[in-house]
Amino acid sequence: AKVVVLASGTGSLLRSLIDASRSDGYPARIVAVGVDRVCPAEEHADDAGIARFRVALREHPDRSAWDRALTDAVAAHEPDLVVTAGFMKILGTVFLDRFGGRIINTHPALLPSFPGAHAVPDALAYGVKVTGSTVHLVDGGVDTGPILAQEPVPVLDEDDETTLHERIKVVERRLLAEVVAAVATRGVVSDGRKAVIPSDRT
Ligand code: GRF
Repeated sequence: AKVVVLASGTGSLLRSLIDASRSDGYPARIVAVGVDRVCPAEEHADDAGIARFRVALREHPDRSAWDRALTDAVAAHEPDLVVTAGFMKILGTVFLDRFGGRIINTHPALLPSFPGAHAVPDALAYGVKVTGSTVHLVDGGVDTGPILAQEPVPVLDEDDETTLHERIKVVERRLLAEVVAAVATRGVVSDGRKAVIPSDRT
C-alpha cells in the first residue's frame, strides 16, 4: 500500500514509521511526507530520500483554499492510506471527502478522554493514573473518528508533560506501525461509528 504521512512536529513518529516500513515484508511504503510548516519532520523525509511537500495555511487566502491545496498535494501521490503523525491541523471537508475512511491518526490519550492538542497536559491535570495511545480513523470531528487500536500507559506520580509524553510515544510508535500494516493488508470495515480490522486468521 502507498502511504502519505502528514506531520507538523519533531517527526519521531514519522521516523519510526519510516524505519518500520523498511523492514522485510512490511506491507506499506511511504511515498511522500507532507507538512504544514517548517519542521524537523522534513529532515526525516530528506534523510530517507522520500518526496516531501509543504502546504502552509498562511500562504493561502483562507482555510478552504489551504484544504484544496493540501488535498491536491496529497492526491498527486495517489496514496492508498494517509497517516497523520503529529499533524497539528484539522483536515478540511475537501480532504475528508477525498480520503475519508483511509486517514489514520494517532492520539496520545485513551479516547474519548482528552481529545485535542493538549491531551498529555490535560491527562496530567486531571490526575488519571492510566492514559495511553489511540490509533483511529479521522472523521470531521476533533479526535472523534472510529477507534482502530488502543493501548494503556501508566501515569507515574513524578511525571511531567515531557516524561509522560515520551512514555506514550514509545507505545504510539509501535502501535501506529502495527495498525498501518494491518490496515494495508486487511483493510477496515466501518459503519462510521465502530471500525474493525478483519482478523488475519482463516
Ligand atoms: C504524538 O504524540 C502525536 O500523537 C501527537 O503529536 C505527537 C507527535 O510526535 N498528536 P512527533 O512529532 O512525531 O515526535
